[in-house]
Amino acid sequence: MKNFTLEPIEKASRDELASLQLQRMRNSLRHAFDNVPRYRDKFNAAGVHPDDLKSLADLAKFPFTTKADLRETYPFGMFAVPMDRIVRIHASSGTTGKPTVVGYTQKDIDTWADVMARSIRAAGARPGDKLHVSYGYGLFTGGLGAHYGGERLGIAVIPFGGGQTERQVQLMADFKPDIIMVTPSYMLAIVDEMERQGLDARKSSLRLGIFGAEPWTHEMRSAIESRTSLNAIDIYGLSEVIGPGVAQECIETKDGLTVWEDHFYPEIIDPQTGAVLPDGEFGELVFTSLTKEALPVVRYRTRDLTRLLPGTARTMRRIEKITGRSDDMLIIRGVNVFPSQVEELILKQPRLAPHYQIEVTRPDKLDEVVVNVEPRQDLGTMNAADQNAEAATLAHAIKTFIGISAAVRVQSVGAIERSLGKAKRVVDRRPR
Ligand code: DLL
Repeated sequence: MKNFTLEPIEKASRDELASLQLQRMRNSLRHAFDNVPRYRDKFNAAGVHPDDLKSLADLAKFPFTTKADLRETYPFGMFAVPMDRIVRIHASSGTTGKPTVVGYTQKDIDTWADVMARSIRAAGARPGDKLHVSYGYGLFTGGLGAHYGGERLGIAVIPFGGGQTERQVQLMADFKPDIIMVTPSYMLAIVDEMERQGLDARKSSLRLGIFGAEPWTHEMRSAIESRTSLNAIDIYGLSEVIGPGVAQECIETKDGLTVWEDHFYPEIIDPQTGAVLPDGEFGELVFTSLTKEALPVVRYRTRDLTRLLPGTARTMRRIEKITGRSDDMLIIRGVNVFPSQVEELILKQPRLAPHYQIEVTRPDKLDEVVVNVEPRQDLGTMNAADQNAEAATLAHAIKTFIGISAAVRVQSVGAIERSLGKAKRVVDRRPR
């Protein structure tokens, strides 16, 4: 059962890890500089050369890469190898403009399968497990990433993909998977469907849920765990860096996500000034790939907000659970608001379901916010008086803890659009 034991690098000393990182970082910067005109131009403009990297701290001298670099070189301008070495292309849809396109060589696909196998193992997979994959297959990296990782680990993969919730639930009742990989918001839709079919979600065969691709709070974790029999474990990644499997929560500690630092080098920066912040401070997560061939990334700005913490279950450092992106932050009459703050408050009300959507408008000069929520379906229909009481409690909590006035509407069960993948938490109708 070779695949189920830790790889030596997972328990190597910090020094061993750092020397591997430095050697790989040098190669990766050189590869980007030599083969991607955009990197060469940016390095030249910043007056740096790959040979200037003498220590890991020297990385701070190199320019950042952003989504704009990928957009402006759309579709394949950031690829560092010729097309005859590319074996896979993925793309992330993005809400505005062109999708972000990413490519993989065979070695990149192998690296990805390896880090995903490592992630699924760290999440608590055991020999003989069956893995039901409900992340979407296709251009999105979730489905195929989970799929290759499960196969690489040597467990039985059931490649369902997103959608057809009723059939998913029936198939799960028959196949009895031990693990499910899905977005946390779609997991809730699956649990609702189990209950609708008269099944007890606490008695399902599922032991582990490996959830990611969107922000979700600790409160959401508790809500899912209390309605099911599963341990809900966090997985993080992004297409530009490789897909899922950049960082993974370990089941033995469940204390944030271990970054697979032998492949992806993390930094935290001040999003305003770009200065590198010490470990432990909050800021924007930035990644430099250390082993990628087709699409090396140098100081890629993720927009995800978190902090770096020392290793616990592994030598490698952890990131704290990501509950927001700088792009998701709403500014409501001057107050910064993250959807996750609203999620936390909704989940403190035991009669409300964690399905929600925040609508922002500006009918006149001022922003107006409506928070749409639903009662929990398993508690039966809620009468108008109770709906009003729940709405008033939530509006009061939002005013007290977040500092904005919001109108809360308790809708009927199922009224808020369910997503099959990443949930859309905010509808911003303000004029741009
Ligand atoms: O969502 C890759 C993925 C698939 C990760 C399946 C985990 C599971 P993108 O579509 O490129 O890739 O979106 C990446 O999603 O920058 C975060 O903002 C967000 N995200 C991903 N995982 C988490 C997580 C995939 N565990 C973007 N917690 C990232 C919070 C997450 N946000």
